[in-house]
Amino acid sequence: MTIIITVDGPSGAGKGTLCYALAENFNYQLLDSGAIYRVCGLAALQQNIHLDDEEALTALAKGLDLRFCPQDGEVNAFLGDENVSKKIRTQEVAEAASKVAAYPGVRAALLQLQRDFAKGNGLIADGRDMGTVVFPNAQIKLFLDASAEERAKRRYKQLQSKGINGNFAQILTEIQERDFRDRNRAVAPLKPAEDALLLDSTTLSIDEVIQQALSFIQQ
Ligand code: CDP
Repeated sequence: MTIIITVDGPSGAGKGTLCYALAENFNYQLLDSGAIYRVCGLAALQQNIHLDDEEALTALAKGLDLRFCPQDGEVNAFLGDENVSKKIRTQEVAEAASKVAAYPGVRAALLQLQRDFAKGNGLIADGRDMGTVVFPNAQIKLFLDASAEERAKRRYKQLQSKGINGNFAQILTEIQERDFRDRNRAVAPLKPAEDALLLDSTTLSIDEVIQQALSFIQQ
């Protein structure tokens, strides 16, 4: 039996770091479902598909030639033959991902691809609807949140550490807009599963979040 642990929550709550730590700790597979939506968003931008064109985006998602290949401790995302691991991390692609992810046809087309990650001993599934839609029968569900201001601060600091001087007000607005789209879309809106443990990381360090998650999982 494959143990499935889902971790949902908004952008910047620390899911990525938590999921990586959990996958290492238990030696489980890791599903970064956001990367799948990002690759879809990137493909739409590359092919000049209008982000309002639901039909064309659904067809794109159905035929998406996407693979994840582990290499030197990292997982690279390939769109066709192109390694797009870096390209999918831009703000432009994040915006496109959040727009394409709002279409039911796109989400349906990418569902099985996500479920196929559940093999071996266990899976840590990182996303927005892992516990509600993709893996509703997961044994353990976490929902990691933090205030929008705190998430914007973290993003600002992360950019600073890369030598980029971001505009805090703009970062906060982008986070709030993306939250609004993710929480209010008709399909798979961002919300905790009824049986999820809610963790608020606003005033917690990442180590404290990892410790709380581990003690809940090991109960
Ligand atoms: O890195 P960040 O948390 O900002 O975003 P991400 O997890 O890479 O996801 C990018 C976008 O994909 C999100 O803003 C969501 O709109 C969408 N997404 C989704 O709809 N469902 C998921 N399971 C994962 C991501």
